Amino acid sequence: MTANRGPPAERVRAKLAERAGPDLAQGMPAGYQRMGRVLLLRLPERLRPHFAAIGAAWQREIGVTTVLTQVGPIRGEARRPTVEVIAGGPTETEVVEHGIRWRFDAARIMFAAGNRTERLRAGRRVAPHERVLDLFAGIGYFTLPAARAHPTVRVRAIEQNPEAYRYLIENARINDVADRVEATLGDNRTVELPAGRFDRVFLGYLPSALPWVPIAVRAARPEGAELHIHTVADVRGGAEATVGRLAEILGVPRSALDGRTQIRRVKPYGPGRDHLVVDLRTPVGSPSGPGAG
Ligand SMILES: C[S@@+](CC[C@H](N)C(=O)[O-])C[C@H]1O[C@@H](n2cnc3c(N)ncnc32)[C@H](O)[C@@H]1O
Repeated sequence: MTANRGPPAERVRAKLAERAGPDLAQGMPAGYQRMGRVLLLRLPERLRPHFAAIGAAWQREIGVTTVLTQVGPIRGEARRPTVEVIAGGPTETEVVEHGIRWRFDAARIMFAAGNRTERLRAGRRVAPHERVLDLFAGIGYFTLPAARAHPTVRVRAIEQNPEAYRYLIENARINDVADRVEATLGDNRTVELPAGRFDRVFLGYLPSALPWVPIAVRAARPEGAELHIHTVADVRGGAEATVGRLAEILGVPRSALDGRTQIRRVKPYGPGRDHLVVDLRTPVGSPSGPGAG
C-alpha cells in the first residue's frame, strides 16, 4: 500500500504504520468529521499515548488547523461535547453548508453531521411571509436556513446556552438575517412567547422534544401550523409508538393524527435506536401534559 492513495484514513494509517508500526495504525478508527478547519476523531482510550502522533498525522494529511478527539458523551441539556485537542490549538471554526455560514467553537458546541439533510429541509419547508419559532435554536441550525429561505420570513429563536446564543447572534449577522431573527437567551419553558402566532415551530432537541409539544401548540396559529418534533425512538416500532405518545400529549385519539403526521428518519442514534423527526400539521385538538395550562 502506498501512503498517498485511498481515503484519508487509509493514507494516515499508512503513514502511521511507517513511523510507529502496524499495531498503532491498525487500531485507528476510520471515521472522522471535518468541520471547516477543525477535525473531530473518536479515538479509543487505549491509543492515548499516541494521540499527539495520530493528531499530527491527520493535521498534515487533511490540512486542518486543529484535531480534536471525543473523549466523553454529549453532556446535559446544552448538549456540550466532551473533547480534547490532540493537535493544533484554535477550536473556533466555520462550516459553510448550502450557502449558509455556521461559526462556532467545535470544542464546546456540537454540529451534528447527520443532521445536514434536516438543516437543508428547514429552509425548503418555509414559505414566504411565515413566522417561525425555533425553540432550541443552538447556533442557528434551523433558524438560519429558515430566515435565509425568503426575505419575508421572520424567526423567533430561543436558546438557553450563552455560548451557543453568542454564536446564534453572530451567525445571524454574518448571514445577513439579523434584522429578521429575534433571538432570546433563556429557557423556552419560561420565556414569554405570544400565543397563536407562529406558522412553523422547530423542536430540535434530543433525546426527545415531545414534552415541549404543548408549548409549541400554544404558540402555533390556531388556523394551522406545522411542527417539526425531534425524538429518539426504537428502530422497531418506535415511529408508531412516537405517534401514539404524541396523540396522548395532544389529548386526542390516535386516529385524529391520521394524515396529519409524517415521520422521517434523520440518522441512526446508537444501537437499535433512530433519531426521528415528526412533522405534525395542526390544529388537532387541545394539548395536555407537561407544558400545558
Ligand atoms: C444541540 S441543539 C440541537 C441540535 C441541532 N438540531 C443540530 O442540528 O445539531 C439543542 C439546543 O437546545 C438548547 N436547549 C436545550 N434545552 C433548552 C431549553 N429548555 N430552552 C432553550 N434552549 C434549550 C441547548 O442549549 C442546545 O443549544
